[in-house]
Amino acid sequence: MSKNEDRGFWSSAQKHLIRYGGSFEPAIIERAAGSFVYDADDRPILDFTSGQMSALLGHSHPRIVSTVTRQVGQVAHLFSGMLSRPVVELAERLAALAPGLDRVLLLSTGAESNEAAIRMAKLVTGKHEIVAFSKSWHGMTGVAASATYSASRKGYGPAAVGSLAIPAPNSFRPRFRNADGSLDWRTELDDAFDLVDSQSTGSLAAFVAEPILSSGGILGLPQGYLAALKQKCRERGMLLILDEAQTGIGRTGHMFAFQRDGVTPDILTLSKTIGAGLPLSAVMTTAEIEEDAHAKGFLFYTTHVSDPLPAAVGLAVLDVVEEEKLVERAQRLGAQLFEGLSRLKQRYECVGDVRGLGLLLGVEIVKDRKDRVPDHQLGAAIAAEAFRRGLSMNIVKLPGMGGVFRIAPPLTISEADLDLGLRIISESIEASLAASGSAPGIAAE
Ligand SMILES: Cc1ncc(COP(=O)(O)O)c(C=O)c1O
Repeated sequence: MSKNEDRGFWSSAQKHLIRYGGSFEPAIIERAAGSFVYDADDRPILDFTSGQMSALLGHSHPRIVSTVTRQVGQVAHLFSGMLSRPVVELAERLAALAPGLDRVLLLSTGAESNEAAIRMAKLVTGKHEIVAFSKSWHGMTGVAASATYSASRKGYGPAAVGSLAIPAPNSFRPRFRNADGSLDWRTELDDAFDLVDSQSTGSLAAFVAEPILSSGGILGLPQGYLAALKQKCRERGMLLILDEAQTGIGRTGHMFAFQRDGVTPDILTLSKTIGAGLPLSAVMTTAEIEEDAHAKGFLFYTTHVSDPLPAAVGLAVLDVVEEEKLVERAQRLGAQLFEGLSRLKQRYECVGDVRGLGLLLGVEIVKDRKDRVPDHQLGAAIAAEAFRRGLSMNIVKLPGMGGVFRIAPPLTISEADLDLGLRIISESIEASLAASGSAPGIAAE
C-alpha cells in the first residue's frame, strides 16, 4: 500500500484543518529539493508551479538553507523600530535594480504589500477610489481583497467603498477588435475609463495592476498598454501601483516585467519570488511619494516589518539570481518551453492557446478551437493525470476563465526536466482524451 494512503493522516486532516479553497492533492509531501517535491513513497513530483509560484530558485537551494541557518542563529526578528544590516542592504540592492524607486518597505506577504501600497496611495493623494482589473488577484486581506475581482467577492459583505474595476485585456477573447480581428486594447481602455469616470465620485486615488494577470489565466498586458494606463492615471491624478508578486525578480526574462515596456510605476509591490518561498514582500516607491507620505504620518507598523531573517533571504535570492544569470536563463528556457507547448498546440485541437512571457506561461484547454469554449472538465482531467504521472501543474478553475494551466517552474530548472515536464503534459493530454473517448484531433490551424 502507498504510504500516501495513511488513514490516520487524512482523517486528522479532515477533522482538524479549516479548508481554505480548492481541494488537496492526493499525496503527503515529505520533502522537496530543486525542481521536485517528494511524496510519502519518495516518488519525485516535478514542480511546474514553483510551489505557490514562489520557489524561484527551486526548493531547498543550498544558499537559502545556509542563509536561514546562519541568520536565525544571529538575529531573526526584532522590535519593529530597530534596524539591522540585512534590511538596509536589501533596500539598497532593490533600489539599484529599479531606478527611481528609491524607498523600500519590507513586509511578509503579497496581500500585505498591496495593503501598504494602497494605504500609501490614499494618504498621498487624499483620495480613496481604487481601480483594478476584472480578473485581478491582489490578496485575501481587506483592501487587497477589495481590489481582487477574479474570485472571492461573494458572501463576505461590502468591499471597500470606492472599489472599481475595468476589463482585463484578453487577446484570446477580444471584446474590441481591430479590422484584422486582433484585440483593439486602445478602444477598450478608452471605453473602460469612460465608465470609470462616470462612476467615480471624483476621488480616484490609484490603479493597481498585475503586468501579467496570473490567477486571471495568464493574461499579459499588450505592449504599449502599461504606458497608456499610466497616462490615464496621470490625467486623473491617480498613482499607478504595479503588483509584481509573480512577475518580479526575473521570472518573465526581465528583472521586473515593467522594464519590457519602459514604464516605471509610482509604487511597485514584490512578494512571492523575492523570498523564493519564504514570506518576504516589499513596497517600493519614489523618494517624493515617500517624503509626502511620511509628512502626512504614514503608518504601517506590523510585527514582522523590517525583520532581519527574511531580509537576509531576499539578499541571498538577489545574489543567486545575479550569479546564476537567472534573468537571462528565464528568457532562454522560457523560449524553449513556449516552443514545446506550441508544438502541443499543433498536435492537439484541445490546446486553444499558449501565452505568457519568460517562465510564466499559460496553456488554455478548449472544447473547440474555433469557438474558444473553455473545457474545464478536460483541463481538470489532464491536471489529475499529470499529477499521477509525476508532474504538478496548476489549473485556473475559476468560473468564466477557462481551464488555463499556469506553468511557472523554478528558474533553476534543468533543460532535461523542462523536457520531462513537456513529455508528461503531452502523455496526459493523450490519456485524458482517450479516457473521454475523444480523438486527439490534429489541429487544422
Ligand atoms: C499578483 C498577486 N498579488 C498578490 C498575491 C497575494 O499574495 P499572498 O498570498 O502572499 O498574500 C498573489 C497571490 O497569489 C498574487 O498572485
